[in-house]
Amino acid sequence: MERLGEARARTLELIKPLDDGQLNRVYSPILSPLAWDLGHIANFEELWLVQTIGGREPLHGELGRLYDAIENPRKTRGELPILRDAELRAYLADVRERTLEVLEEVDLSSGAEDPLLREGFVYEMLLAHELQHNETMLQLLQLVAGYENEGLTLGPSAVEAPGSEMIKINGGEHEIGAPARGFAYDNERARHAVELKSFEIDRTPVTNGAYIQFMEETGAEPPQYWERDGGGWALTTMAGRDPVIPAHPVLHVSWHQADAFAHWADKRLPDEQEWEAAHGDLQGVGQAWEWTSSDFLPYPGFEPFPYREYSEVFFGDTYKVLRGGSWATHRSVMRPSFRNWDLPERRQIFAGIRCARDAG
Ligand SMILES: [Fe+2]
Repeated sequence: MERLGEARARTLELIKPLDDGQLNRVYSPILSPLAWDLGHIANFEELWLVQTIGGREPLHGELGRLYDAIENPRKTRGELPILRDAELRAYLADVRERTLEVLEEVDLSSGAEDPLLREGFVYEMLLAHELQHNETMLQLLQLVAGYENEGLTLGPSAVEAPGSEMIKINGGEHEIGAPARGFAYDNERARHAVELKSFEIDRTPVTNGAYIQFMEETGAEPPQYWERDGGGWALTTMAGRDPVIPAHPVLHVSWHQADAFAHWADKRLPDEQEWEAAHGDLQGVGQAWEWTSSDFLPYPGFEPFPYREYSEVFFGDTYKVLRGGSWATHRSVMRPSFRNWDLPERRQIFAGIRCARDAG
């Protein structure tokens, strides 16, 4: 229960400097207003824990429909009659109170019969959901003028000893995916062996400095939130205007930009199996999500759980997989088998680059 409390404290810390107007404001058609994220966090918790597990009635009748992520595309969320202001804060608190009551009553042990309860699945899912939405909220916060938060570290740290050094990973059989026990999403299972050819992968993520060189030589577009500043570049997140720091990992690049960078460097993006096989030797994982060349596809033996809309409806060649995590990702939701996915043109996410190439 303690970790749920910590996650909620972090959610509330993120919005502490904001007023209700800022929570309700639509900053971008591809990002939800913060009020929607907050209501959705509470509603997801109510739906899975209070209603499904606890068997209780929802607090606000049909309200849940407004927080269904598939039914309500991001660009429509600002106009929905969602909960706002004091009512929204009360809903978050009321749902949490009921959640804690239900959790008192249930068996979350490894022997639990219901797969939703076994090994505390539903608890871990709620926790991960809230922490993952914290990252989505941080994407939006990049657009909030003058946002400051002394309680949080905002932004990446410098890549230690950046350079073009690559690590060789020997070919052969590698185990991919989450083990059968412990919390993971359905798309990370089943764990299975893949046959990889020998390859090399960058030891460190691509830095802003390297990306600037690529732009200068090819005329490529800058990452999102960069603007010309005299002879250099400025970062305009949170409506600041700070010089781009060359030693920081490059962030806010699309898959197309990442792919073009890799080609310019005479390399390629790793596929997600290569990334997972190499992750133990990589440095700087957890600063920027790393685009891979892989489409988001099911693993052999995939079974949707606990609902089709978590992963299954996204499988296909529309989305590209990202691995690792960013500075905005809570450490407890980062794991080597975790698969993030997004559209190849998207740049509001904290995505960067690490390149690979076939071993000669
Ligand atoms: Fe969600």
